[in-house]
Amino acid sequence: MLSTRGRKYADLNLAAGYMKKRGPLYNKLEHPDGLVSLTTAENFLMQERALNFVKTECLPKLELSTLTYHDGPFGSRRLRHAMANFINARFAPFVPVTNDEITFVSGVTALNEILSLCTTEENEGFLLGMPIYGSFAPDLQTKSNCRLVYTSFEDQDQFSVQAVDHYERALQDAEREGIKVRALVLTNPHNPLGQCYPQETLEAILRFCGKYNIHLISDEIYALSVYCTGPSRPGFTSILSIDIRNIVDSHLVHVLYGLSKDFAAAGLRLGCLISKSAQLTQAVRSLARFHCASPLTDAIATTVLEDEDFCTEFLQESQRVLGDHRAIAAEALDDANIPYARNSNAGFFLWIDLSACLQDPSWQAEEDLKMRLYDHGVEMSTGQAYHDRMPGSFRFIFSVDRDTLVEGLARIVSFFKTHSNNVNVLGL
Ligand SMILES: Cc1ncc(COP(=O)(O)O)c(C=O)c1O
Repeated sequence: MLSTRGRKYADLNLAAGYMKKRGPLYNKLEHPDGLVSLTTAENFLMQERALNFVKTECLPKLELSTLTYHDGPFGSRRLRHAMANFINARFAPFVPVTNDEITFVSGVTALNEILSLCTTEENEGFLLGMPIYGSFAPDLQTKSNCRLVYTSFEDQDQFSVQAVDHYERALQDAEREGIKVRALVLTNPHNPLGQCYPQETLEAILRFCGKYNIHLISDEIYALSVYCTGPSRPGFTSILSIDIRNIVDSHLVHVLYGLSKDFAAAGLRLGCLISKSAQLTQAVRSLARFHCASPLTDAIATTVLEDEDFCTEFLQESQRVLGDHRAIAAEALDDANIPYARNSNAGFFLWIDLSACLQDPSWQAEEDLKMRLYDHGVEMSTGQAYHDRMPGSFRFIFSVDRDTLVEGLARIVSFFKTHSNNVNVLGL
């Protein structure tokens, strides 16, 4: 017999996706007909390099303390110090970050859960844009039961200053319905659109948060996976780099970062909160007891972050190979006239528009299209999973090995050629 809570968690079955039986995955030599799976956002291109560093540089430096409870569950002092130096060197914070403002747990996923518990009551919630990282929904809501208020930007560019008017309308509509908004959540660079927010938009968002006295949670987990910049593609601006003194209370502005993306090391399970709120930091450190990153992971990450030359070389190499793979993907999509979010310059994905292959403009048709693509040998996440406004978009991951990338593109292009009715309704 389970409690009501226990039954709710069982019914949610969040592990189901990991237990699905699938045939072999594509491998040019061993399984040329295998499934091309493009669902998880990982930097597969850099994993070997990362593993090699772990084996040769990190493991030999392990000390006895890594088998103890160490400095406690919220990150060793040395790791927090190394991360503070890393952030100060690479995120250009307006006020330098100190190790007291940094709290580690076992991933940004855990932090999202903790932050929802610490900032909302039931029937209070978070403001998010559309589309946005789909796992915010389970991560923020499962334990806290908070409400998520998704903002539609209609035809407005969500990276523009004017997008803030839409956030304001969504907040006011929610409050009229009795949902108090406590925080706005951003992913910058954006998942799934792969774009960085311009500084003036971030300033407008901060002013909005100041006006309504709500938290801004900026998930910057892809911060250093920006592979090109240009006039329509600004580089990464951390929320930490903005002078917020006359805009918003600094206790309301929080950054999430981790090693899963930029360091191709999701398996380390490490993420941190950077916050000037001593009270929030204290609350998160209490709950860190239940989400403690292993001291082994802590020690590995410390060696990585303390080696500035390695970090620079690794991140440069990563940006170069991501750029190469993005170019291969863009060329194939352009040749086949498949629309995609063109301004993307960060992350591991392109947001592609396959609405021309929908049998009708419904979410069910999008789900059917996902299954038709699966039967054609390609697995991708749908627009609905990212709370998109209209059906038909898919997240194409290009950070896979080159053979898989080329094969995945070939399958999508051949599918599109046969099944597209040449009417793309999303206007990407
Ligand atoms: C925007 C964003 N935040 C957080 C995560 C998960 O981070 P972690 O591996 O640190 O739990 C992901 C992973 O896809 C992500 O895309």
